[in-house]
Amino acid sequence: MHTRNLIGGEWVGAESGAVFPVRNPATDETLAEVPDCGTTETARAIDAAAAAFEGWRALPAHERSAPLRRLSDLMLAEVEPLATLLSREQGKPLAEARGEIRYGASFVEWAAEEAKRVYGETIPASTPGKRIVVLRQPVGVVAAITPWNFPNAMITRKIAPALAVGCTAVVKPAEQTPLSALALGDLCARAGLPAGVVNIVTGRDPAPIGAALFADPRVRHVSFTGSTEVGRVLMRQAAANITRLSLELGGHAPFIVFEDADLDKAVAGLMASKFRNAGQTCICANRVLVQESIADEFVARLRGAIAGLQLGPWDSPDATVGPLIDDDAVAKVERHIADARAGGASVRTGGTVISPRAGLARRFVEPTILEGVKPGMLCTREETFGPVVPITRFATEAEAVRLANDTPFGLAAYFYTRDASRLIRVAEALEYGVVGANDGAPSTAQAPFGGVKHSGFGREGGKHACQDYTELKYVSIGL
Ligand code: SIN
Repeated sequence: MHTRNLIGGEWVGAESGAVFPVRNPATDETLAEVPDCGTTETARAIDAAAAAFEGWRALPAHERSAPLRRLSDLMLAEVEPLATLLSREQGKPLAEARGEIRYGASFVEWAAEEAKRVYGETIPASTPGKRIVVLRQPVGVVAAITPWNFPNAMITRKIAPALAVGCTAVVKPAEQTPLSALALGDLCARAGLPAGVVNIVTGRDPAPIGAALFADPRVRHVSFTGSTEVGRVLMRQAAANITRLSLELGGHAPFIVFEDADLDKAVAGLMASKFRNAGQTCICANRVLVQESIADEFVARLRGAIAGLQLGPWDSPDATVGPLIDDDAVAKVERHIADARAGGASVRTGGTVISPRAGLARRFVEPTILEGVKPGMLCTREETFGPVVPITRFATEAEAVRLANDTPFGLAAYFYTRDASRLIRVAEALEYGVVGANDGAPSTAQAPFGGVKHSGFGREGGKHACQDYTELKYVSIGL
């Protein structure tokens, strides 16, 4: 287990020697202590990334691609220890953590290949004596501020395309889950990424680290995943140095089930979307809209599927739903359930927070169905980030689309139908960056993941992510 920061190829502590604990959310056991860094260490990491930039960008694309490919191979070869560490610090069941490591490796593999395809353009000039050539160049030092819900994959999704196009990186992992980031740093070094190309700075308080990143004009792009509230703060900070931003902020995904849907597929899609990581994903179904005529049948089948879920900590072989990350997360879910009940919704399944056995924290939320949820209730306005399914019935397609779009958020939306015309109509009408049409698990390395409206901007994944980390420069050549 690496418990020091990676800066300029060295494993170092905080200048002050300060550390902070990382704990297992299922048990509150302290797993390790990591450096509690701030402005000074962030400045050093930027120095290291800036020093490495010229050499890294100058490498032929094939030579940048090779260590990335090795990194992806190492991640796959070491799924087991990486997943175990991730489960212990984040809480998700081991099988899910293995899936996250493979998902994380897929971004690195894809970017390694795409490194060779960072193409420019030529544009016909308007006079015979000129030629116009468009170059795509790396923006420079990139900072990745990453969340705790995917301690591995959200780092690789941000830095792999940046490295592929020739940028270098400073990573600030979430304070709850720094160990997976440090483990990844170790693999970056072993894969042969030169010193300073990837730097990792941990800190209990993200504010001074973030401020140092935006204060330094050498940091040309900051990619952040987290709340809309923090995203607004970062936008203000970015103004000082006109720092480029990618913001993957909160979501509030509607999940629509039309009466012509294949109900078994819709239930399976909802289970995949809603209970992944105990409902702690930005794209998980947050409002389930079901057409009146099939609502009773749908809820009955959903209850059957939910009965097969098992609450438990990471090392329980049968666990499918782990603990929430902390007590604030539990309190928010409890608030949403209480508010819905007070407004007339009924709990059809679950509804309580438990400790599944002695020695475990009371952070396990029973998979819950809330029926009779009405627009305006807390769970229809805020991201719940827990295993709660709030169900609202609707009558017509127009009403479903109106309810689905009735939110400032616009990250992911889902709907199930077997009508081909409706599929096109609704996919086009939904104001979201990611739409799962008969698909509850749309995330993949090659597609441009990201939101609209208050869910942010910028795209992660695919060639679009690589493009986000490049500047276009045109050279007008007089002959
Ligand atoms: C997220 O919750 O932020 C990411 C989810 C995903 O990549 O599928």
